[in-house]
Amino acid sequence: MDRRQFLDAALAAAAAGLVPAPARALAAQGWAATLPLLPAPKGTTGPVVLSAAPGNYDLGDGPRAGALLINQQWPSPTLRLDQGQLFEATLDNQLDEPTIIHWHGLTPPSAMDGHPVQVIDAGTSRSYQFTIDDPPGTYWYHPHPHHRTGYQVYFGMAGFLLVSDGLDADRGLPTGARDIPLLLADKRVVAGELVFAPTSGEMMAGFLGNEVLVNGTIAPVLAVEPAVLRLRLLNGSNARILNPAMADGRTFWLIGTDAGLLSAPVPVTSVLLSPGERVEVLVDLRADAGGSVDIVSPAFAIVASSPPSAPPQGTAFDLLRLQVSEPLGADPGTVPAAFEPILPPSVAAGPPRVFTFAQSGMQHTINGLVYELSRIDFTVRLGEPETWRFVNDGNQPHPMHMHGTRFRVLSRSGPALASDAGWKDTVLVRVGETVDIALRFDVPGLFLFHCHNLEHEDHGMMLNFVVEDRIFGDGFESPAGA
Ligand code: C2O
Ligand code: CU
Ligand code: CU
Repeated sequence: MDRRQFLDAALAAAAAGLVPAPARALAAQGWAATLPLLPAPKGTTGPVVLSAAPGNYDLGDGPRAGALLINQQWPSPTLRLDQGQLFEATLDNQLDEPTIIHWHGLTPPSAMDGHPVQVIDAGTSRSYQFTIDDPPGTYWYHPHPHHRTGYQVYFGMAGFLLVSDGLDADRGLPTGARDIPLLLADKRVVAGELVFAPTSGEMMAGFLGNEVLVNGTIAPVLAVEPAVLRLRLLNGSNARILNPAMADGRTFWLIGTDAGLLSAPVPVTSVLLSPGERVEVLVDLRADAGGSVDIVSPAFAIVASSPPSAPPQGTAFDLLRLQVSEPLGADPGTVPAAFEPILPPSVAAGPPRVFTFAQSGMQHTINGLVYELSRIDFTVRLGEPETWRFVNDGNQPHPMHMHGTRFRVLSRSGPALASDAGWKDTVLVRVGETVDIALRFDVPGLFLFHCHNLEHEDHGMMLNFVVEDRIFGDGFESPAGA
């Protein structure tokens, strides 16, 4: 069958009740489109040009203007990089406002990080050049201009950046068409049109949508083999926390978190995924030939104040349908027993550095501070282990993200999250929770610490810090009182 017949058959099967109807939360469109796999740009090991420009999107109701695209692709192109390679990219800003691209989860030199002080004006370009020395894993890139990150990400500037060491087949992991990056992001869709106009209440809560797009598509269908699949899930939402699960409640396996693989697959039935976080999971479809398996985000309990303009945090959504073919003869794979052990983090000698989140007026604060571009808020020492303690005294969950390093969760006062087991660069801190993390900074210079709820970030829930090299100096002024 061709693509159209395949879809018709799938839809007819669904209509005939052969496929259990998912608990569709809000979208009325049904499972309609084939999932566009994220295209890889040409020459991923050579220099890549990322051209940011206005463009169109199409959510099934015809093309609409207003997208902000990289290389005119919706969603943005996937960059596939090899560990150890020299990454060379040029950002060409054809938007009508400043922008800058940040490589979320990578640890390049400070000058290559895409900090908001590095924004480039409309009509200009800049180049990036650094060696990829991060663990193989699922990273991503997105704009980072202060006050405009939420807007630019919302309208389409966000893509995967996958780092490989070439050993995944040896690890027994699915590769090729069985290794599937899925960018999940909720949007407010009204008559086929993307709406983004946060009120002050929505700046406080974060801008929530009424549909969750998967790789830019509402409720897509993806044709797959009856095999073990590797799904790389990225929550690219501005503010919505998701809870990916299989609609039939079956077990799947968490194999990786923000910055690489776990020591071994961990069986789960759902994984809480806040904005900025990634997880890699294995899904076993070996017994599903000829059927379909839906991936959903079932309802979950979370304390958050959500304005009435969109379904609240914790609402159920459909994500995508996996339409499973008959066996194609290839080895369907298995769930590996183990990967390389991940070492425990080195533990700091001193007391934790405490960061308390709260509200003041109509802003979320970190230790009472609201972001200022030119103010350095604290310094840390290069290469020395630290413990950071996050205390959420506010009324919103905060996915806290750090540039320039990665970390491990040491403890959490609330219920444990499956992703706490692995290397992280973004960690959800729910209302009333205290979370301790272990970290160390190995790259000197200026970096950011912020909430990845993009409305919180744009409204100032962000701090600058400097990693100081005490032997060679760092070239930065010491902040007052530090
Ligand atoms: Cu994903 Cu500072 O960013
Ligand atoms: Cu980042
Ligand atoms: Cu926040």
